[in-house]
Amino acid sequence: MTITHAQSAPLVAVVGATGLQGGSVIKALAESDKLYRIRGFTRDATKAAAEALKKQGVEVVAVNLVVENREEVYKAFVGADYVFLVTNYWEHVNQAREISEGKLLIDAAKAAGAKGIIWSGLVPVRQISGGKYSKVLHFDSKAQVADYGRASSVPFVDVQAGFYATNFVGPFPLLAKQPDGTYALPWAARPSTVVPVIDIEHDYGLFVRRVLEAPVFPDGQTVYTASEDISAEDMARQIAEITSQKVVFKQITPEDAAQKFIADGFPSAAATDAVEGFLFFDEFGYYGGKPSASSEGLARPTRTFAEFVKSADWSKVFV
Ligand SMILES: NC(=O)c1ccc[n+]([C@@H]2O[C@H](COP(=O)([O-])OP(=O)(O)OC[C@H]3O[C@@H](n4cnc5c(N)ncnc54)[C@H](OP(=O)(O)O)[C@@H]3O)[C@@H](O)[C@H]2O)c1
Repeated sequence: MTITHAQSAPLVAVVGATGLQGGSVIKALAESDKLYRIRGFTRDATKAAAEALKKQGVEVVAVNLVVENREEVYKAFVGADYVFLVTNYWEHVNQAREISEGKLLIDAAKAAGAKGIIWSGLVPVRQISGGKYSKVLHFDSKAQVADYGRASSVPFVDVQAGFYATNFVGPFPLLAKQPDGTYALPWAARPSTVVPVIDIEHDYGLFVRRVLEAPVFPDGQTVYTASEDISAEDMARQIAEITSQKVVFKQITPEDAAQKFIADGFPSAAATDAVEGFLFFDEFGYYGGKPSASSEGLARPTRTFAEFVKSADWSKVFV
């Protein structure tokens, strides 16, 4: 446990501290033998996840990180040496809001005099696909914020999150029960399509920690993250083997994929966003053709997909 209150230690302000990415960042920094002060943001400092952070020595600050609350947002970052920034698109499904909130976080970090910004971005799908896929809004908005961050004159690193392994277990499980009682992994992508899958809680923070502990803050870098690069078909096979359920990969049409997302509760625009995302991964790769994650220099090994499957709770999926 290396979370300290000593003023000599750098103060890292973490957005989304009670969530998957921010929580993973705090976990990885707490494991380090380097000392950190950590400030974690939440809208509700009384929730269980916030209380758990306080017990670990995290300074929990309650703040609503929205443009209507600009003054409080700026105050929240005062004193931060480094910041980890993430936006939660799926909470509102509003691209303009994600962009404006991302930019606000960068402005606030800059005003606080931060020495480095780590942003959780994604690739510019519209640009990489030459306009073919123009509706993967939650990727494009994060890429726009990254452009803004890189132009901010504050040292800036984009640590992009891979495809969460937790997507398989909820809140909208990717597996679908078939009429015969078996399960399918119905994706609008080919079975051989390889995806950089990440056990987000276990592994994402390792990549952020590597940035913070580099001899020189790697200004301008884009870091790709993954626990394992694995094909859709192999994921279905491993889930079947480990859970002893009958699970098969099934390539479906984009129209059927959209219908499935809508049936699972996605708003129609979000369903289109998700389906185009799969078509983009299939054609260009999740990271748009860039080499996937390098695990060199991480503080501990990342998990394999099989290890994630073994550790996950499948009780809500196989019902
Ligand atoms: N699923 C995937 O495969 C995948 C892959 C790559 C990237 N992503 C991206 O990951 C992002 C979500 O990150 P996550 O998984 O870490 O989210 P998460 O686990 O759902 O947690 C969201 C965090 O954001 C905080 N938050 C949200 N709105 C806030 C506000 N207005 N003010 C202050 N804090 C706020 C929440 O804090 P409180 O609720 O405690 O206030 C919580 O800590 C999305 O934008 C998504 O596009 C997802």
